Formats: sequence, structure tokens, C-alpha cells
Amino acid sequence: MQHPQNHQLIFTLIALALPVLSANLCRSFCGTIAINYPFGVDDGCGAPQYRQMLNCTNDLFFIATSGRYKVQSIDYQKKTMVVYDPAMSTCSILQPHHDFVMTDIQSVIIPPTSDTVFALLNCSIDSPVLNHYKNLCFNFSGHSCDELYGACNAFRIFHSLTNSSPPCCFTGYDTVKYMSMNILDCTHYTSVINTDNLKGVGPLDWVYGMKLSYSVPETGCERCTRSGGTCGYDTETAVMMCLCSTSTNATRECATGSIGDLGGGQKFTLWTNFHAFALVMEALISIIIL
Ligand SMILES: *[C@@H]1O[C@H](CO)[C@@H](O)[C@H](O)[C@H]1NC(C)=O
Ligand SMILES: *[C@@H]1O[C@H](CO)[C@@H](O)[C@H](O)[C@H]1NC(C)=O
Ligand SMILES: *[C@@H]1O[C@H](CO)[C@@H](O)[C@H](O)[C@H]1NC(C)=O
Ligand SMILES: *[C@@H]1O[C@H](CO)[C@@H](O)[C@H](O)[C@H]1NC(C)=O
Repeated sequence: MQHPQNHQLIFTLIALALPVLSANLCRSFCGTIAINYPFGVDDGCGAPQYRQMLNCTNDLFFIATSGRYKVQSIDYQKKTMVVYDPAMSTCSILQPHHDFVMTDIQSVIIPPTSDTVFALLNCSIDSPVLNHYKNLCFNFSGHSCDELYGACNAFRIFHSLTNSSPPCCFTGYDTVKYMSMNILDCTHYTSVINTDNLKGVGPLDWVYGMKLSYSVPETGCERCTRSGGTCGYDTETAVMMCLCSTSTNATRECATGSIGDLGGGQKFTLWTNFHAFALVMEALISIIIL
């Protein structure tokens, strides 16, 4: 009683409908973290400058040259992102030496903030930061880097081997940007955020990680958002686009004609999804009837 023709029909219709159903607009959350402009976790979403900088696989990760850093939070008001390197040494855990390296673009548009301090530890006496570049080292909020050797279980080992503290240095991102750990001649580093608020707080209670400060490209995203669209870009040309629905992209803003009072792309998307769903139902019904 079922004609092969009908099978063909339904498969054709599902094949037609599926791209519409799956070609959703940009994801606006990764776990509990909101993903807004200029960021995007789907290709073609957000600002092209931030392309492939975030990866959402269960958790949200910031992808730098030296590895994947877990994103703890994004503050869209202050334009900051806090990331944590699971492979970095902290006051409570000593991990193998490695570098922190960003791409050239990243170090310009999303560098660590000035209240993110890098602590270079177990440096040799030949380290440039103890010699020619010693003015790159500083103390913050009444703390000197030697404190870490005494206060942190993880770093006591440096001290116990020689029975004296090896040289160390608190410094800013620019130092590690221009000099790798090999050049710096220090075996380990850790980084601390919100260092302006740590007066009288011991290293055990510091927050380890990095705060990055990002800039938002001036590309007229607001105009697109106001018209109900989502800011994105053409994946081939990297030219900014306003994504209005699964089937419509605009150069600047979504056309007002297709948008109702409830607003925007979402309504339109809902409609196209409904339309696809209706096509499938229609196919099913036609099979049952025939
Ligand atoms: C709209 O832009 C997105 C992101 O670049 C792309 O995936 C999609 O295919 C485009 N849609 C149309 C209809 O051009
Ligand atoms: C995200 O990371 C996973 C695991 O490394 C990888 O398989 C996937 O391709 C990445 N996704 C994107 C969009 O880069
Ligand atoms: C500290 O640095 C010295 C070389 O300056 C190195 O031999 C030693 O292994 C380092 N300590 C640790 C625990 O990595
Ligand atoms: C940091 O503080 C320590 C201890 O008070 C002091 O010996 C050192 O000279 C200070 N370093 C700098 C760069 O000010």
C-alpha cells in the first residue's frame, strides 16, 4: 500500500526542510555565558576580527597561540573577559613550564589588562629582568614577588632546593609579549587578576588567571541589532553583514517590511521553521492518506 514514490517524496521534502531547520542563527549562549557582539561561537557570527577566537565545546574556551584558555566570565559593560589557563601554575599547584602567547591580532584587540600581573618565578641571575630590563619589575599593593615562595605550597620547592629565594619579578603583559620564558630565563610563571584590590590579602587568596580587555570594532552593529538582526560577517570576504533570518542577510540592517511588531529576525526564523515543519507534516499526511 505504500508506494516507493511516496518515500521519495518525503525524503525530498525532509532534505529540503533540514537546512532551514538546522541553519539557525548565531548561538547566543555557551553554557551559562552569554555570547554577544563582538564575539561569536559560530563561524560568520560576531565581528570578523574575533573569528575563531572562541570555541564552545561544553565549556567556552579562548583560543590563543599557546593553547586553550577556559573563559570564566565576560563583562560586556566593562568590555573584559576573564580566562583561566588550566595548565598554569598557581599558588596551590606547580605545573610544567610553558609560555603565554597570543596572535598578533589578539595582542592588539584583546590584550591582558594592566591589573593582570605576571609573576615570573625561579629566574636565573642572568635573566634580562634582573639586569638590563629590571625596570620592568614592580611591586603591587604592597606585595613583592618573594612573598610567593613563602606563602605558596606550589612555589616552596624553588626555595627549599637552594635554601635561598631564586630571583623573581612581577611584571606586565608587555614583558611576556616581547620575551618568551626562555629569553626571560625563568622556569615558571603565574598570573594574578584585580591586583589593585589586593592590599593586605595573601597570595593564597589571590585570583589566578588573566583579565583581557577587548575593543569593539566600529562597524555599525547597533544599527543591525536595532533592526532585529544579529551582527556577523561573510565567511568568504569577512565583510560585515547583518544576519536577519536563516534565509536573509543584509548589508547594514534588516528590511522593515518583513518585520512585525513583535520584532525582528526571531519572528521570521520562527516562521521559516514552522514552514519547514508544515512541509514535513504535509508529506507525512500525504503518505498516510495515499
Ligand atoms: C548569511 O550569513 C551567514 C553567516 O555568514 C551564512 O552562513 C548564511 O549562509 C548566509 N545566508 C544567506 C542567505 O546568504
Ligand atoms: C572546537 O574545539 C574542538 C576540540 O578541540 C574541535 O574539535 C572543534 O573543531 C573546534 N570548533 C571550532 C568551531 O573551532
Ligand atoms: C629552578 O630553576 C633552575 C635553573 O635556574 C632549575 O634547574 C630548577 O629545576 C628549577 N626548579 C624547578 C622546581 O623547576
Ligand atoms: C619590592 O619590595 C621589596 C620588599 O619590600 C623590596 O626589597 C624591593 O626592592 C621592591 N621592588 C621594587 C621593584 O620596588
